[in-house]
Amino acid sequence: MTKKTSNTMWGGRFAAGPDAIMEAINASIGFDQRMASQDIEGSRAHAAMLAATGIITDSDAEAIREGLLTVLSEIEGGTFQFSTALEDIHMNVESRLKEIIGEPAGRLHTGRSRNDQVATDFKLWVRDQFDAAEAGLIALIQALLGQAEAGADWVMPGFTHLQTAQPVTWGHHMMAYVEMFGRDLSRVRDARKCMNESPLGAAALAGTSFPIDRHMTAEALGFDRPSANSLDAVSDRDFALDFLSVASITAMHLSRFAEELVIWSSAQFRFVTLSDRFSTGSSIMPQKKNPDAAELIRAKVGRIYGANTGLMMVMKGLPLAYSKDMQEDKEQVFDAADSWMLAMAAMEGMVKDMTANRDSLKAAAGSGFSTATDLADWLVRVLGMPFRDAHHVTGTLVALAENKDCDLPDLTLEDMKSAHEHITAEVFDVLGVQNSVDSRMSYGGTAPAQVRIQVRRWKDILK
Ligand code: ARG
Repeated sequence: MTKKTSNTMWGGRFAAGPDAIMEAINASIGFDQRMASQDIEGSRAHAAMLAATGIITDSDAEAIREGLLTVLSEIEGGTFQFSTALEDIHMNVESRLKEIIGEPAGRLHTGRSRNDQVATDFKLWVRDQFDAAEAGLIALIQALLGQAEAGADWVMPGFTHLQTAQPVTWGHHMMAYVEMFGRDLSRVRDARKCMNESPLGAAALAGTSFPIDRHMTAEALGFDRPSANSLDAVSDRDFALDFLSVASITAMHLSRFAEELVIWSSAQFRFVTLSDRFSTGSSIMPQKKNPDAAELIRAKVGRIYGANTGLMMVMKGLPLAYSKDMQEDKEQVFDAADSWMLAMAAMEGMVKDMTANRDSLKAAAGSGFSTATDLADWLVRVLGMPFRDAHHVTGTLVALAENKDCDLPDLTLEDMKSAHEHITAEVFDVLGVQNSVDSRMSYGGTAPAQVRIQVRRWKDILK
């Protein structure tokens, strides 16, 4: 049996190499290669700073910076040989750099450690994902605004307890989701602002005795400032948890909308027709058109919450500063990010492509005594009744309509007068669903005019 040699990157004190199982549990290269470009970006900034501060020579820094670009092109071109023995992306890159440029490569790791390096790489990666999430949310909001504008005055039933409550407008319903995704957008922007501090130069945990310039690397990498405590810098994964918690809330919003689309596209509801591009057929039932994309979006929440809970458990109870536990941060975040971006893109596509079935919406809007509240309000407004009494009178009329198997607008004036003698024919004006929604003019209400105000407000916000 050939004895494995110790690791060339850190094996000075080791006589033998690791056990194969140790290598398998220890290595992160299988997944952290996704941070290759961030790793190289960070190292290039670090090398430039080492030269600017006179810690290494300009020519060494130049060789390092050029060599790193060669490594990047090998990785991007798919010719790079990743090695599990070299554990992670940091050592794979540095080892290859050594093969390409020789001795100067060994000077790159001056004044830093893999602990600040991995925190920096991961932050840069997560920051890119925050930017992608921002773009995805804006695109989704724009798709919803398109639907809201087109259908600002299309009536549909509004529900509470999934029971018909009052008529609302299609535009209003779409705008409810615009508000939700708008809050998600704020959360994304806040979290990105909060996380934008550079861990680079915190070194292993205590900082370094080399005269490094952390402000310079922070600026080169687009951070607002260097993080102010080296222990915190290498042991902080709040940025990943912020990412996952914003992702979780957004995914929850996506799942609610996805659930509505599943219900709405059913034969029983027929509120919307999803486009063929976002549906599938059944292999056995020829009549079926399934809302698979919506169902999958609804389900993606599970993985995203799982990642959020998982990383919280990894971080819980960890003493300062870096512990290898923290290597378990990445796969969950990668998976959650992929799921989140895909779910948003699929939802945007579905929203753009779906058709509201205006006739079904309108018919459903008028059923279930949905204008009962309008009747009660009329009794208050026109007859000056206290609302509680009006509620009671309306209740009697709903019972009467139920008995006659008709809807409120189908009752006769005599029926109305049987409940309260002062009711006049004017009452029928408020019983139509269109009248009902038109009258809901309170700020943020469902009236088409209010919906259009909100659509305009959001268009201005997104400008
Ligand atoms: N692969 C490691 C990680 O992802 C990099 C940091 C390793 N640091 C160390 N001291 N072993 O966390």
